[in-house]
Amino acid sequence: MNMDNKLLKRPVTVSMTSGKGGVGKTSLTVNLAVALSRRGKRVLIVDGDLGLANVDVLLRIQVDKNLRDVIENGEDPSDTIVAVSRNLDVLPASSGVPAMLNLGQREQSLLENLLRKVSSGYDMVLVDTAAGIGQSVLWLNNFADHPVVVVTPDPTSMTDAYALVKVMARDYHRDELHVVVNGLSSSREGREVFATLQSVAERFLQVRLHHLGSVPQDPEVARAVRRQVPFLETSPDSKAARAVLELSAAVEKLPPRGGQADFQAAPPSPREKSQSARRA
Ligand SMILES: Nc1ncnc2c1ncn2[C@@H]1O[C@H](COP(=O)(O)OP(=O)(O)O)[C@@H](O)[C@H]1O
Ligand SMILES: [Mg+2]
Repeated sequence: MNMDNKLLKRPVTVSMTSGKGGVGKTSLTVNLAVALSRRGKRVLIVDGDLGLANVDVLLRIQVDKNLRDVIENGEDPSDTIVAVSRNLDVLPASSGVPAMLNLGQREQSLLENLLRKVSSGYDMVLVDTAAGIGQSVLWLNNFADHPVVVVTPDPTSMTDAYALVKVMARDYHRDELHVVVNGLSSSREGREVFATLQSVAERFLQVRLHHLGSVPQDPEVARAVRRQVPFLETSPDSKAARAVLELSAAVEKLPPRGGQADFQAAPPSPREKSQSARRA
């Protein structure tokens, strides 16, 4: 790829998010990124769990500088990117820094500029967010072309996913989101969990949810986490690995937002949005 193409390239940005923590966002992000990179995509993982980063832990990579150094100290973002393999890079975040979860206006616009700058040249950017409905989570989901809500069959996870969808619709007018159901005991359960969430989102929020994929409960996931190696590598024939490969084929087909070849316009601030938002 020549430099001009590299500068013009607009990646498809996908955020992996959830209401509840511990539902598998980081594990799925890392393995999905590996799968996409093997399909020939140039992939950047942005660790968007800005206060409690752990993409670096799951990939066992050495981090010298992170997003906090860029935002607070003006470090060059390209110096913070860590190459994991030929097609896969990581932009790491900081851990144990609660302030990173509530970015002010200045930090938000810095983050937006730097994410756009570092993303160019990649085919896909996967943003692993923190759990919850904190301001930086919402902001990163709105930055993404496609927010993907990770949910498990656990009723608390479903309730929290619904709350997140509701806030994204109300404050950011995002009325189309994707869902990945993780930790399933059967594929039927995946369809049921999705159908439940889809019907309440449509009925009460007028939001369309798309079922992007499902991943079964698999002990190989936890085993790989402990070894700090993607399960696609430790157990390529496992149920979870096969499901993530299928998921990567679906993610690869996601278009840029609005099908535009250039970057999306800067998202309006939540305040601007809420002035015209009249959703419950
Ligand atoms: N499909 C799965 N099968 C079994 N364990 C899983 C699965 N997905 C995630 N886990 C386990 O759940 C824990 C939390 O996963 P993690 O990816 O860190 O979640 P999050 O990023 O949403 O907090 C990890 O220890 C992981 O091993
Ligand atoms: Mg995580």
